Amino acid sequence: MTLEQQAGPLIRTDNFIDGRWVPAQRNRQFAVTNPATGERIALVADSSAADARAATDAAARALPHWRARLPAERAAVLRRWHALILANQDALGALISLEQGKPLAEGRGEVAYGASYVAWFADEATRIYGDLIPAQQRGKKMSAVKEPVGVVAAITPWNFPLAMIARKIAPALAAGCTVVGKPAEDTPLTALALVQLAHEAGVPPGVLNLITSSREMAVETVADWLADSRVRKITFTGSTPVGKYLARESAGTLKKLSLELGGNAPFIVFDDADLDAAVEGLLAAKFRNGGQTCVCPNRVYVQAGVYERFAALLSTRVAALRVGPASDDASQIGPMINLRAVDKIARHVDDALQHGATVLTGGSRLSALGAHYYAPTVLGDANATMALCAEETFGPVVPLFRFDSEQQAVEAANDTPFGLAAYFYSQDLRRIERVSRALEAGIVGINEGGLSSEAAPFGGVKESGYGREGSKYGLDDYLSIKYLCQGGLE
Ligand code: SIN
Repeated sequence: MTLEQQAGPLIRTDNFIDGRWVPAQRNRQFAVTNPATGERIALVADSSAADARAATDAAARALPHWRARLPAERAAVLRRWHALILANQDALGALISLEQGKPLAEGRGEVAYGASYVAWFADEATRIYGDLIPAQQRGKKMSAVKEPVGVVAAITPWNFPLAMIARKIAPALAAGCTVVGKPAEDTPLTALALVQLAHEAGVPPGVLNLITSSREMAVETVADWLADSRVRKITFTGSTPVGKYLARESAGTLKKLSLELGGNAPFIVFDDADLDAAVEGLLAAKFRNGGQTCVCPNRVYVQAGVYERFAALLSTRVAALRVGPASDDASQIGPMINLRAVDKIARHVDDALQHGATVLTGGSRLSALGAHYYAPTVLGDANATMALCAEETFGPVVPLFRFDSEQQAVEAANDTPFGLAAYFYSQDLRRIERVSRALEAGIVGINEGGLSSEAAPFGGVKESGYGREGSKYGLDDYLSIKYLCQGGLE
């Protein structure tokens, strides 16, 4: 079966508002294409501010009923949704691969990963505790209770079309919030399919609403939510400039914000590291989704004593990676999402070569495969003057920087406005303690390349944003604390 045939039954193209599939009010559509071939997969609704408003109207109407449900009732709906997502793992995986380009095994893996957040927050729904505060005055009872923040607007990226929206919607629904959402224009089909399954799982009309819009209409559509005082929270995963725009533009109604923004992750290999483990960890972390992950290592610092050996081991492994479309089971790296992405990668590599880097493997577009392919690349002799040191490349390029001392490595790692993930490999326990404290990042991998988990807090510091997703902390972002003070008790 082709990817199109597997994904076909789940394809929806209208907006989902108040429990119904409806076309955009202006009756416009835009095309979603397969990044591997450039072929059109579907035409979906191109929404405007009027559709955003209709979604908010529905979410605001549904809020009092949904928040009044017992936590166990909300949990039961989430559990049914989780079961339906897993029952459709193959079709959803094919849909992710079709519109996003990642290899099919990764597409299916993303379904399980995204579903794990739904199961996690189904359980967390029943554990939203408050506090009884020890009385400070006679005759008074003081307590703190947690309440849903209200209508949540979820704006999600293209790199994980299922997992990113699942890990925003699940805690919102668990907390008793209602949702209006907009997926990235490159990958709206997976989000629409997910919403269909939520509907089948019994999410009531108005509780979850999803609209799609083209790149041209995105600002107008989202601006309506930013200005609407009924939307009490924005949760966004994407670039730092867009995150700053959302924070600025929503300030007029002082919304709660969770911003999971860009990274520029350092990966440090010390002389005392297990080099084979470091190579494995780097391959896993760097080449997941072809390097299009915000926790991907972007700058790899290798201590002088092991630099040559590590560079040789890594280059051999990277040269062997198979690149190709998701329709080929042997592919380990798919196409990049669009031409803008490939152009940025090529710009970073060209700039690095002009500033003294050497190509150890790769270093060019793979035009014979299609316009969106770039070879997995290792660059030696990288330095801080290169654009790829300051900006996230978001592609399959590993620049190797040589360093001498621990202090030098930590200073270089922290020399960025970003602070999402950081990784290091060392077998010295004292060094592990020192470096894990010194790194300025929300997430640190120590002798480990795979960090993401529904049970762990995901999020950054500095200009990588604020708020946490997943874990017991992930629910707090959708709750506000109300203090109750009861008097006259004595
Ligand atoms: C992201 O790239 O934004 C998320 C990656 C993850 O959840 O591991």
